[in-house]
Amino acid sequence: MTKYKYPYSFSIFKFIFNSSSIAKDPIPFHKALFTKSEGNSFSIKPFFSKPVVLTRDAEFAKYVLQKKHKHFEKSKIQTTYLSRYIGYGLLTSKGEYWLKQRRLIQPAFHKEKINSLISIINTAVKEQVNAIEPRRDFQSLYPLMNTLAFEVIAKSLFNFSAELETLNRLQYVIEKLQKFIIKEIRQPHKKIWYTVNGDIRKHMKLVKESRDIIDYIIEERKASKAEHNDLLDMLLQAKYDDGTSMTNEQLIDEILILFVAGHETTANALTFALFLLANHKEELNKAQKESEKFSSEDLSMYSFSNLSYIKQCIEESMRLYPPAWITDRVALEDETLGDYRIEKGTMIGVSFYEMHRNPEYWDKPKLFNPERFSEENRKENMPYYMPFGAGPRLCIGNNFAMFEMMLVIQNILKNYDIEAIKRDVKVNPLITLKPVDVELKFSKR
Ligand code: HEM
Repeated sequence: MTKYKYPYSFSIFKFIFNSSSIAKDPIPFHKALFTKSEGNSFSIKPFFSKPVVLTRDAEFAKYVLQKKHKHFEKSKIQTTYLSRYIGYGLLTSKGEYWLKQRRLIQPAFHKEKINSLISIINTAVKEQVNAIEPRRDFQSLYPLMNTLAFEVIAKSLFNFSAELETLNRLQYVIEKLQKFIIKEIRQPHKKIWYTVNGDIRKHMKLVKESRDIIDYIIEERKASKAEHNDLLDMLLQAKYDDGTSMTNEQLIDEILILFVAGHETTANALTFALFLLANHKEELNKAQKESEKFSSEDLSMYSFSNLSYIKQCIEESMRLYPPAWITDRVALEDETLGDYRIEKGTMIGVSFYEMHRNPEYWDKPKLFNPERFSEENRKENMPYYMPFGAGPRLCIGNNFAMFEMMLVIQNILKNYDIEAIKRDVKVNPLITLKPVDVELKFSKR
């Protein structure tokens, strides 16, 4: 008799045997097991550690992320491990400290506050979209969207007060760190080698450099006394219940996290959305017509209701390609969920990617169909749609990201005709779901 009943259980031998191809691309492996288990969750039981469950079940996900969120916490991969490089901030902290920080920072992301950031976002978006050079040939889309998303978060944090050179260096350093984190996560057995060959030391120096750059910007801002109405001002003004503010170290942690959490995800989402639109002429025409009518003078968050179709297209792209494609939690206690017992210490992976393609929830899941998010249909679909997560750890930048992406797509479609060379997009599921080799042709309209 087994102590716990688990969803369909998968042999650890098969897992070990296939580990290198799974590490390269876990998505086909997950897909095959969901199909084989004929269910929405399965588990792997390593010999000497607790089971790992993977789910694409929306109920299960809500139970873990929302309903019983206090009984689960983020795994060490997301907390201890990531925080070594990107600091102990909202994304990487847990427990009481996380709650205290979330309460402090949340108001800066309320819709009314974002309203005051919209003009900064809009200026940064326009600058970047204008910089796209129309060419006769196809150009790689991701680097354009990556720089654009970095610029938007950088300008929203520091308005236009930081020097361009400083921001470029910060972008370089943060991207170097992100690349190294992925290398370490994918090949944990090489950690000793990275220590011996000096890679870890080299990257810890970059961590220090990124923190020094941000510290310098904070100090300059404190000394200047000028108001910038940006996120840095909001973070500097935020007060804990006892009236104190964040220390510089805390500010640096949170700012680094906002860069990391806010720029790659957005760049991925924009790349997928533009690629899908370029491949779906009818939807592209409709979105383009909407973009022509939109005026970005006198913007407020209410103006965005005039971009409802573009919003639907972005939402549908994030259904097919959720940039944060998976998250995890670890059970802090034994839990019962329906027929199943979740043993304390079990790691649960919630695959938003598989949930968003689960045939139980979505009709023709592979089809790009923005109508799923129209006014009439969205209510029915929302329970199975979690690109920004769910529960109290829901993405703090979700409104920010949506406004930014709507402005980018609107600006691009108004100014350029776009064309894709390929029909399908390859994905690279790292910490975020990255598009591979997407190329578009931009022609000036
Ligand atoms: C398309 C863009 C984005 C996507 C798809 C996305 C997705 C997500 C998801 C799924 C989570 C929850 C992770 C979990 O529960 O384990 C999350 C958390 C977070 N996101 Fe985003 N995000 C995006 C953009 C942004 C932006 C623009 C910012 C900041 C300006 C941001 C800041 C954060 C932070 C700080 C957290 C941690 C929140 C907490 O745990 O309290 N994100 N994001």
